[in-house]
Amino acid sequence: MKPFHLLFATIASLFSLFLLPSCKSGGGDTIKVGEFASLTGKEATFGTSSHEGTLLAIEQVNAAGGVLGKKIELLTEDDQTKAGEPANAVNKLISKDGVVAILGEVASSRSLEAAPICQQNKIPMISPASTNPTVTQEGDYIFRVCFNDTFQGGALANFASGTLKAKKVAILTDVKSDYSKGLAKSFKDKFSTSGGTVGIELDFNGGDKDFKGQLTAIKSDAPDAIFLPGYYNDVALICIQAKQLGLATPIFGGDGWESESLLTIGKDAVEGHYFSTHCSIEQPTPEMSAFVDAYKKRFNGKSPDAMAVLGYDSAMVLVDAIKRANTTESAALRAAIAATKDFSGASGKFSLNADRDAVKALVFIQIKGGKFTYNATVNP
Ligand code: PHE
Repeated sequence: MKPFHLLFATIASLFSLFLLPSCKSGGGDTIKVGEFASLTGKEATFGTSSHEGTLLAIEQVNAAGGVLGKKIELLTEDDQTKAGEPANAVNKLISKDGVVAILGEVASSRSLEAAPICQQNKIPMISPASTNPTVTQEGDYIFRVCFNDTFQGGALANFASGTLKAKKVAILTDVKSDYSKGLAKSFKDKFSTSGGTVGIELDFNGGDKDFKGQLTAIKSDAPDAIFLPGYYNDVALICIQAKQLGLATPIFGGDGWESESLLTIGKDAVEGHYFSTHCSIEQPTPEMSAFVDAYKKRFNGKSPDAMAVLGYDSAMVLVDAIKRANTTESAALRAAIAATKDFSGASGKFSLNADRDAVKALVFIQIKGGKFTYNATVNP
């Protein structure tokens, strides 16, 4: 390094030594919390829901006086459901805005893009709903307030053999999505080791419009059920085309199915099908009813979905950890989040385990009479 560069580097590091810690410890008038979400683009309902839940939590905390004597300022970046944008969003939130923690994302592929950046900068990141097992394996600053897909895939395998009485299951995977690939694998591992047969396995690319080729091949393989670990928009089209081809085989999937849009696009083609998800808003707990009431009041009577509930819980877990840490200093805050135990969330009571994943129950929903209807609960 040339002497001039060395001098510059020394000045810069002294500068950041004095300036950055005050930023990172919330030295300003507010505590800055970052959020990145798909507010627009292909999975806009995911980001909109999780954002609304997160916003409601922050507004409630601020109305009750804030935390550590300060109000929380939520800085939200729209990643537009586009690869590349989550990295831009969290880089900006960390380097330019000086946030103390980051909430997001719903989709695993986008959380996986942002997590290494948060980890490198030692900024705690809490994903509300990304279930791919590798998300929290990115490092000790990465957390989630949902179960992972090892658990969800196992529950779906038991469901296929137990409830659907399926002996042979076909799998249709979205190869563009880490979530879909991971959940397909967890399902397959569990279903085949517990005596089931995985029949034909086919792929699609999220956003495709024509699935007739795959569905025709599945029809001739004659499985007892079709496992479809996809997101709601693709799932709705696949179910419509399956019906058009006269395929009466039950189709089932995971949490990616959950969106009102599944019903509005899929209509009677999704009727009778099942999926697993994080919670049901019909859950009779005081935390869930309080959340549903507050959400409806805040968002013009709209009913919350799982992403809204989890967005709310992600923010509340962070606030609880800031209180217990009594600081927003990064290592202390990380340790406090990791110590989250018996947290009474809107989604249910949960603790974070040594892998920084929430240990919690899962629910099965059946689409009945054009509505999401609670079917069963699976405990961890
Ligand atoms: N679990 C999905 C993922 O990891 C995201 C998701 C969560 C979608 C909840 C819908 C509901 O990508």
